[in-house]
Amino acid sequence: MNMTFEGKTVVVSGAAIGFGRAIAEYFVRAGAHVYGCDVQADRLAELAGVGVTTAVVDLCDREAGAAWIRDVETRAGGAIDILINNAGGVAGHAHQPIEDVTDAAWDRVIDINLGSTFALSRAAAPSMKRRGSGVIVNISSGAALQASLTGVQAYCAAKHAVLGLTRQLAHELGPHGIRVNAVAPGFVRTNDATERQWDAMGAAKQAALLEGIALRRLGTPEDIANVTAFLASDLAGMVNGQIISVDGGR
Ligand SMILES: NC(=O)c1ccc[n+]([C@@H]2O[C@H](COP(=O)([O-])OP(=O)(O)OC[C@H]3O[C@@H](n4cnc5c(N)ncnc54)[C@H](O)[C@@H]3O)[C@@H](O)[C@H]2O)c1
Repeated sequence: MNMTFEGKTVVVSGAAIGFGRAIAEYFVRAGAHVYGCDVQADRLAELAGVGVTTAVVDLCDREAGAAWIRDVETRAGGAIDILINNAGGVAGHAHQPIEDVTDAAWDRVIDINLGSTFALSRAAAPSMKRRGSGVIVNISSGAALQASLTGVQAYCAAKHAVLGLTRQLAHELGPHGIRVNAVAPGFVRTNDATERQWDAMGAAKQAALLEGIALRRLGTPEDIANVTAFLASDLAGMVNGQIISVDGGR
């Protein structure tokens, strides 16, 4: 048993930047055939250069997500081995009092974090079941376990729901040889939104955040990719329905 992924078919949603990109690059280095999608076409193009088969897909459209999974299965000649549901985020939103949150803002954040995880898992599960094996890893958040630093209500609710979906699917799909687990990253500076969040904290809150982390540092995309790969590997063969925090100890 080891962490080799030679010849495996790995699918990563939201692969253009940050965790998704680090995860996709990890699996390419480990010998897998990696497929990544995103809405950021320009950043996605960079990934094609390192051997990832990319597609521009808006995962708020569940049918488009399902069509992408069918396309990957056709290209791979069968079931996906490892599905990483990573696409998510706050869709450009910051905290607002709940009375100011629009339906559109709420729906968008729920769709990208929860709807995409549902849609891609639903699309990938049937062929995994027919084969009798598969792994799904959902990138949730520390916001699945407590209030979110973002203050975005829909984000916190969606990440809690991703954890519920993880546990439910682990029980539903486990008898078919499919494991479903989640990763809960702490705050990591990966994109414009996290940079704005970091800057808005100011020096005192930044220092307090670091003081609240036992390891006294923020995580990196590679920290998240490493634990994701562990959960996807045979080393985690008896781990199912779990959430692993990757936050340095809060
Ligand atoms: N960065 C953090 O501090 C942090 C902490 C905990 C959890 N997370 C979660 O980890 C995951 C990755 O976060 P990140 O910080 O690397 O990047 P991110 O949150 O900016 O987004 C992840 C990727 O999803 C893509 N995406 C957004 N909407 C999409 C859509 N409709 N269709 C397809 N792709 C779409 C983005 O373009 C991006 O590449 C997300 O689910 C995020 O919620 C992030």
